[in-house]
Amino acid sequence: MTAAKGIILSGGSGTRLHPMTAATNKQLLPVYNKPMVYYPLTTLMLAGCREILLIVNPGDVEAYRRLLGDGRKWGLEISYGTQPNPGGIAEAFLIGREFIGDSRVGVILGDNLFYGASLPAVAERGAQATDAVIYAYWVADPTAYGVVEFDSSGRPCSIVEKPKHPKSNWAVTGLYFYGADVCDVAAGLERSARGELEITDVNAHYLRAGRLSVERLGRGYAWLDTGTPSNLLRAAQFVETVEDRQGLQIGSPEEIAWRKHYIGDEELEKLIEPIQKSDYGKYLHRLLTQD
Ligand code: G1P
Repeated sequence: MTAAKGIILSGGSGTRLHPMTAATNKQLLPVYNKPMVYYPLTTLMLAGCREILLIVNPGDVEAYRRLLGDGRKWGLEISYGTQPNPGGIAEAFLIGREFIGDSRVGVILGDNLFYGASLPAVAERGAQATDAVIYAYWVADPTAYGVVEFDSSGRPCSIVEKPKHPKSNWAVTGLYFYGADVCDVAAGLERSARGELEITDVNAHYLRAGRLSVERLGRGYAWLDTGTPSNLLRAAQFVETVEDRQGLQIGSPEEIAWRKHYIGDEELEKLIEPIQKSDYGKYLHRLLTQD
């Protein structure tokens, strides 16, 4: 089986973060010491995706290119697509149809930060499955999310977008894996009341067909929101706390590329050279001498 491709949805206007997002796209803002988009990008890398499409606002392509280029420096193939208006997560499958071709595809929201020891294994399972795979996370207030209900045998039995009276606390996170047929599913959807192609409608379709698995990310995981100034600060503090305590970085594309042998020592050295004075550069340098 060919490896799953990945799509990062990195557009939007970030209105809740204004004025931070007046001149910069939300997903380019820092979460502690890295641009926000590094976190979802590395989640896809951990899942094994190496061909990645970034969907961004037309005016932001240049900035993303400056940051990520064509991905070759990290052993990836990164290309760019644009979403001129916020048309919903499922629009990714219309914009990305050609990119997806007949491959399995993972989609992640550019502002989603996942953390947990088993994340690589769990994400890899999603990338390699045949059914649709989504991830649910227990939250105190699920009303702002898609919400999954499970029956007594633990199987998903309903999925509802932003319910007023949620049937469970299991929120649908912004990481999804599907077969290539998802493009047809998305093409057949009607726009919702908010004018979007809803990912919840895609998931409900697979649920009805008996082809949806929901992985529950239990207590040992963090799924963090970065949508408001407080949430953004808390996510940054989370990363700082863990990184500072362990001396290990969360969400470093260079490290993951090197650990997965997409790049060797020499390539990593070249990446370090221009940034050797930064703490990030020093960290990457330590990898070469420690391991
Ligand atoms: C979207 C999805 C929702 C999902 C959430 C995850 O919500 O529609 O099902 O739970 O992402 O962050 P939105 O960001 O569009 O409100």
